[in-house]
Amino acid sequence: MKFFIDTANLDQIREAQDLGVLDGVTTNPSLMAKEGIKGKNNILKHYVDICNIVDGDVSAEVIATDFEGMVKEGEELAELHPQIVVKVPMIKEGIKAIKYFTDHGIRTNCTLVFSAGQALLAAKAGATYVSPFIGRLDDISTDGLELIADIRLIYDNYGFETKILAASIRHTMHVINCAKIGADVMTGPLSSIEGLLKHPLTDSGLKQFLEDYKKGN
Ligand code: E4P
Repeated sequence: MKFFIDTANLDQIREAQDLGVLDGVTTNPSLMAKEGIKGKNNILKHYVDICNIVDGDVSAEVIATDFEGMVKEGEELAELHPQIVVKVPMIKEGIKAIKYFTDHGIRTNCTLVFSAGQALLAAKAGATYVSPFIGRLDDISTDGLELIADIRLIYDNYGFETKILAASIRHTMHVINCAKIGADVMTGPLSSIEGLLKHPLTDSGLKQFLEDYKKGN
């Protein structure tokens, strides 16, 4: 399972990269705004800065919602750096744009996916990644993990190569459950990755080992 971090914060990206287990980054317009990154040139530069920190794929989202606009923006984003994956919303024009990008060798991440039908369409259009937002489904009392399982089943039935990128991960148990289901990638905050480290028996066991070492030395 690949680990992506879902942030535009360069310090957090560096911290996750330093851990040695980071495979990529996802961003979205809200995450860029949260870091105060505004204006086209600053946004494009920020994507390059992110690419220069991590080794893997970096999702950069188009703002246009019409086919021509998405194609223009997506081509510009893809030109920025070989690690860029163009993030396209799951709308009718978005599916057309994903098909265009697929036919022109540009990798895509179909975002804002909330149903198995949407994921099937994204795969048919040749998306590199599909991003089901499990946390936001949980927020409205729907089972986000069930969606991941449904998409896994459908993709396996037909051998679709689109990678399931479990998005809107909120906590460590989301990561573990997505891994059990077989999501290809998860994207979440740094806390969801660091939470995997934690167990009270590890802490108490280590404390005991160090105390016993001190007694004998
Ligand atoms: C995915 O690529 C999105 O950026 C993200 O996971 C959305 O998560 P949120 O629901 O925490 O905003």
